[in-house]
Amino acid sequence: MAEKAGPNMRKYGRQLFICNHGDCAPAEEDEALHRLVLERNRQQQLNRLGNPHRIKCTLADCLGVCQGGPILVVYPDGIWYHGVDAEGLERIYREHLIEGNPVEELIFHRHFPGGEEPAYAPLVRGDEGLAPIPWAPLVEETEPESEPGAVEGAEEAAAELRRMAARRNRRKKGLLIVNTGEGKGKTTAALGILTRAWGRRMKVGVVQFLKHESARFGEIRAAERMGEIDWISSGDGWTWTSDDMDDTAARARQTWAVCQERIVNGGYDVLILDEFTYLLHYGWLDGNEALAWLEANKPTMMHLVITGRYAPQNLIDFADLVTEMRAVKHPFEEQGIRAQAGIEY
Ligand code: FES
Repeated sequence: MAEKAGPNMRKYGRQLFICNHGDCAPAEEDEALHRLVLERNRQQQLNRLGNPHRIKCTLADCLGVCQGGPILVVYPDGIWYHGVDAEGLERIYREHLIEGNPVEELIFHRHFPGGEEPAYAPLVRGDEGLAPIPWAPLVEETEPESEPGAVEGAEEAAAELRRMAARRNRRKKGLLIVNTGEGKGKTTAALGILTRAWGRRMKVGVVQFLKHESARFGEIRAAERMGEIDWISSGDGWTWTSDDMDDTAARARQTWAVCQERIVNGGYDVLILDEFTYLLHYGWLDGNEALAWLEANKPTMMHLVITGRYAPQNLIDFADLVTEMRAVKHPFEEQGIRAQAGIEY
């Protein structure tokens, strides 16, 4: 049987793989890095078929690291980089791919001892006749006349660099949110966050510190129907109109103890402490102690939403987000219309 001729090999120097599986880094960061490499390739003319230094860059599925991403590997050098952001990529591109000096701080794995990497373009390496590729900034040195659309591409890549730098600086943390003030809507707004988080399959819960006289509020019914929402209330009938304030204070502290246990062990993404401000306002809890406890024990990524009037200044100072509800108009004040099911409760 006649042997089939194989396809012609178009030589290239290096192959880059960027993990785009999404577990080691957000996929959009990997894609942004990929676009930057392509833009760099274009600008350095390392995308040209005839260039033996040509760089291929491929978004790959999981590279088997799954942490510390974005992960970028360079072959045939066998060098694996991690935590590659826009700035790191610029360094890798310039120092490693162009100048031949791998960026040691970003390397986490080498297939070969340093300096013993395989030659990446065997026909060319050591060829004195090959001019080195000069490094060029992304925007300034682009010549639109010679390559239509180059300016737009370079500007887009530069914008991507800026976006990545902004993303890098964007920190995430579990927030302490306080809804306070005289107006209505404090608990309602907190429940809006709860619903949003529930919709994202986050673990959510509510601790109600004051048991209202009518304890079958619409939100409690909704939580039962939605499922997967922990609803803890103080239980047995104490209210802020209680005649026995000692008992009330004792029950509030009891509920705080339950709440502390849930904060530490509950695994919540979002937990609402409904009407918690009263415990601080009435002095049933030592505010400074409670806040110090939260500072020491709240899981970093847990969002806590505290509602209630009279948020004390130390709580406001401690919180990340504080909203004060202010009544502008109220149906009872103006028209004598009382609270209605589905609206107020
Ligand atoms: S998800 Fe990136 S290496 Fe596995």
